Amino acid sequence: MRVCVIGTGYVGLVTGACLANIGHDVICIDNNEEKVKIMKSGQSPIFEPGLSDIMQSAIQSGKIEFSSDIAAGVAHGEILFIAVGTPPLPTGESDTRYVEAVARSIGANLSGGYKVIVNKSTVPIGSGDWVRMIVLDGIAERQKQLVTAGSAPAARLPESPEFDVVSNPEFLREGSAVFDTFNPDRIVLGGNSKKAIAMMQELYAPIVERNFAENKSLPNVPVLATDLSSAEMIKYAANAFLATKISFINEVANICDRVGADVTQVAKGIGLDSRIGSKFLNAGIGWGGSCFPKDVSALVHTADDYGYEAHLLKAAISVNERQRLIALEKLQQALKILKGKTIGLLGLTFKPDTDDLRDAPALILIEQLNRLGAKVKAYDPIISQTGMRHGLSGVLVETDAERLADGCDALVLVTEWEQFTKLDYAKMAKFMSHPVIIDGRNFLNPEVMQKAGFQYIGVGR
Ligand code: NAD
Ligand code: UDX
Repeated sequence: MRVCVIGTGYVGLVTGACLANIGHDVICIDNNEEKVKIMKSGQSPIFEPGLSDIMQSAIQSGKIEFSSDIAAGVAHGEILFIAVGTPPLPTGESDTRYVEAVARSIGANLSGGYKVIVNKSTVPIGSGDWVRMIVLDGIAERQKQLVTAGSAPAARLPESPEFDVVSNPEFLREGSAVFDTFNPDRIVLGGNSKKAIAMMQELYAPIVERNFAENKSLPNVPVLATDLSSAEMIKYAANAFLATKISFINEVANICDRVGADVTQVAKGIGLDSRIGSKFLNAGIGWGGSCFPKDVSALVHTADDYGYEAHLLKAAISVNERQRLIALEKLQQALKILKGKTIGLLGLTFKPDTDDLRDAPALILIEQLNRLGAKVKAYDPIISQTGMRHGLSGVLVETDAERLADGCDALVLVTEWEQFTKLDYAKMAKFMSHPVIIDGRNFLNPEVMQKAGFQYIGVGR
């Protein structure tokens, strides 16, 4: 099928490259010319495992193109994905201006028969109908321009553009986005047009039938076809549930710290109950990233708009905000005065295997440590290579973990990068006067760390 993906960030680029790899003809559109140039050269502008490989194989098979020309993309695609960002506004609402701009330009450029316009971006509930309205506005504006320009009636009124809007929320995780796209737990399709839903089912058939899955013997991927609002709500509810689950275990961890229990054992013990499940029960310094914080806040805001106070979701957010300061409290307990001390952060990104710093807990830690007069250094396997690009401030980014340890009063493990289990901690401890490590992800083995000469402090263990 002919597909156009507008917005080539973590979601759009992965979606476009995966759809091209399963045989569709894809054009990826981005208004950032620099990104388009990088993608055309077969490189990924973001760090995402496996993404460059599938981009290159799609380029070689002629299944993918990159462009900033939205008109060409709209003309090409029978399915048009909107995958631009919906960042948070200071109020907690979702900023839908990029979705609006794209929907308007889709309308202004709509031609060439029936189209399915897909909301892949996470958008507030009700956005499906709103996008339809904006596309119609875009069409009307174009007609007006043509009339003003005095074009012939035939040019003014081409075949009446027909389209439907479908909500197709995305559940991929950064760091495993390619895997998640080929191996989804489910596909959600919201809309009231049978034709549009059938086209989406055809689009995803190779993934649903597990032709590209790691485990091809699994039953087909469940496809939930539902109404627009429910599909939009499913996305928010899924993220809010997972974030709440983490806040729950973080609260339990804080109680464990006080009563002398080990939260890693507690998580194991409760996770064995199949009704609870073992995933997303890793206690630590809280959830971050480009999705959980903004999506939970946006859902609280939507509830507020409809006169409902979302107590549980607000509590999940407030537990998370406090949790992000846990490392700071533990540093104060271990070192007392932080003014003049040097703190080394192991990891900066909000999770491993990504270069994404959006709403990363490390950023709050840096800000607070600076406020208390501490000097902050950091080593991150990806950011140490690409640091300048991210405009980080208040932190000296070191090129390796041993240089990081040199002269530090304490280390804080912020991100559980696999390579942090293999560092020479005994050597690192020798560079520090009183080696302390706060393990913000309960990632390291306390006994091993103690043997290496560290005072080990975890979260709830
Ligand atoms: P991103 O910021 O990484 O990428 C957005 C891209 O859209 C950028 O490359 C930007 O240049 C481009 N863009 C903006 N305006 C444009 C326009 N008018 N025309 C063409 N391109 C334009 O965003 P992301 O992280 O991929 O997220 C996209 C959406 O998917 C958001 O709504 C997000 O909530 C949702 N989502 C993200 C994830 C994730 O893990 N990042 C997971 C699920 C859902
Ligand atoms: C999340 C959702 O998982 C995904 O389905 C959605 O599409 C986008 O948002 P992502 O933000 O990429 O994905 O990462 P995720 O693995 O969910 O982690 C989010 C945050 O929660 C990270 O800061 C992570 O460190 C934290 N986390 C996760 C915990 O603190 N404990 C856990 O047990 C799991």
